[in-house]
Amino acid sequence: MNRREFVEGVAAGAAVIAAYPSARALGANNRIRIGLIGAGDRGTQDLKEALLQPDVECVAVADVYSRHRDQVKTVVPGAEVYDDPRRLLDRKDVDAVIIASPLHLHAEHMLATLAAGKDVYCEKTMTWNIAEAVACLHAAQNSRQVVQVGLQHESDGDLADTRKWIQDGLVGKVTMVESWMSRNTPHGHGQWVRPVPSDCNPAHVNWNLFLDGRPKVEFDGNKFINWRLFWEYSGGNITENMVHQIAWIQTALNLKEPEAVTMSGGVFSEKDGRQVPDTIAVTMEFPDLVVLWQSTFNNTHFGLGERILGTDGTIEHISGATDMVTGKYTSGINYYPEKLNRADGVNLIGQARSQDHMGNWMECIRSRNQKTNAPIEVGYNSAVAAHMANLAFREKRRITLAEAKAAKQIY
Ligand SMILES: NC(=O)c1ccc[n+]([C@@H]2O[C@H](COP(=O)([O-])OP(=O)(O)OC[C@H]3O[C@@H](n4cnc5c(N)ncnc54)[C@H](O)[C@@H]3O)[C@@H](O)[C@H]2O)c1
Repeated sequence: MNRREFVEGVAAGAAVIAAYPSARALGANNRIRIGLIGAGDRGTQDLKEALLQPDVECVAVADVYSRHRDQVKTVVPGAEVYDDPRRLLDRKDVDAVIIASPLHLHAEHMLATLAAGKDVYCEKTMTWNIAEAVACLHAAQNSRQVVQVGLQHESDGDLADTRKWIQDGLVGKVTMVESWMSRNTPHGHGQWVRPVPSDCNPAHVNWNLFLDGRPKVEFDGNKFINWRLFWEYSGGNITENMVHQIAWIQTALNLKEPEAVTMSGGVFSEKDGRQVPDTIAVTMEFPDLVVLWQSTFNNTHFGLGERILGTDGTIEHISGATDMVTGKYTSGINYYPEKLNRADGVNLIGQARSQDHMGNWMECIRSRNQKTNAPIEVGYNSAVAAHMANLAFREKRRITLAEAKAAKQIY
C-alpha cells in the first residue's frame, strides 16, 4: 500500500482500525518506554523533556539522517537507532512514540503508530492537509491510544484563566478576536533558514523515506534541511505558528473548524527561494465571530498575542510585546472590564499555573485517559483551520469548510 492509499484507507474507516491491539501493559515499575521518530531540533528537545518525567526510558529512535542519529546517541546512548520508523514501530517494547518529523510525514507516522497500538505525542501541526487530519481523527477516536498533540500552550495557565473568565460571564458576547505574531531576522537572512551540513548527501540521508511517496525528485539538501520553506513538505508560518494561536483561541471559546477563511500575503521580507509567505493576514469566520491573525517576519515590536473582545470585557494575552510607553518587554494575561456593561468590574491578572505538557501526556498514558490537554480533536480543529487558510491563499479566494474538505490538495 502506498502512502496515499494508506491515508485514504484510514479516512474511509478501513481495516487498520480493527487491527488495533488493546492498550499495552507498561513495563516493570510502570515504566513508560518511548521511541522518537525524527531526532531533529524539536524531537531532541521533546525527548529531553520526556526524560525529565519519572519512570520514562527511551529505547529506540528513528531518523533518516545519520548525523542526527549520531547526535541523539549522546542524549540516549542506550537507545537503538534506525533510519526507518517502521523498525521502531515493530518493536513490542515501545509503549509510546514522540513524532517530530517534518510536517508532511506526521500523518503517516501517526497512523502507523496508532496501528501498532502505541500512544502518540505528535508535534504540531497534526497533519499536512485536511484529508490526513480526518484520517488521524478517525483512527485515534477508534483506538484506545492516548494522543497528545504538541500544542503545548493548551497546558498553559493563561488558557485556564481565560476559560474561567469566559465561563464566569466576565467577557459577555464575543464577536471579534484579534491575534498576531511577529519575528525579525538580521538583514539578508531569512527566517528559519538553516545551513546545510557538508555530510547532508544521499550517502547519509535516506531521501526516499523523506519523500515518502511524493514524486521522485533528485536529492536536494536544502529542501531536506529547510523543508519549512516549501509547500510540498510544509504549510509555512500558518502551520508553524498560527496553529498554536488558533488552537488556543478555539479552546478558549469552544470553537470547532471555521466556516470560511480568507488569507492574503506573500514572500516580501527575504526573497531567498522560499515558497511559503512571510507576511500574512488571515480572516477566519466562525458563527457570529471573526478571528483575525496577522504575521510578519520583518518586525518584532509587538511580539505575539491574542485579544478577545467582548461586550462585557477584554482578555489580552501577550507575549514578548514592547510596551509603547515604557519600552519594556511585557507578557501576561489580563482582563479589563467594559465599564459600559460592567460598571463595577475590576481589572484582573491571570493566576493559574501552567501544567507540564509532556508530563500531562505521561500521566494520561498511565491512567489510560484519552482526554489529554491537547487531544486529537484539538489537533484536528486547529489543523483544519490552518489548511483552510493556506488553501484560501493558494486559490486566492474565500474558501468555505465544505470546499476545503472537498479540495484536492494543491500544495
Ligand atoms: N511545538 C512547538 O513549539 C514546535 C517547535 C518547533 C518545531 N515543531 C515541530 O516539530 C517538527 C520538527 O521540526 P524540527 O525543527 O525539529 O525539524 P528538523 O528538520 O530539525 O527535524 C526533523 C527530523 O526528522 C528527520 N526525518 C525526516 N524524514 C524522516 C522520516 N521519514 N523518518 C524519520 N525521520 C525523518 C530529519 O532527519 C530530522 O532529523 C515540525 O513539525 C515542527 O513544526 C514544534
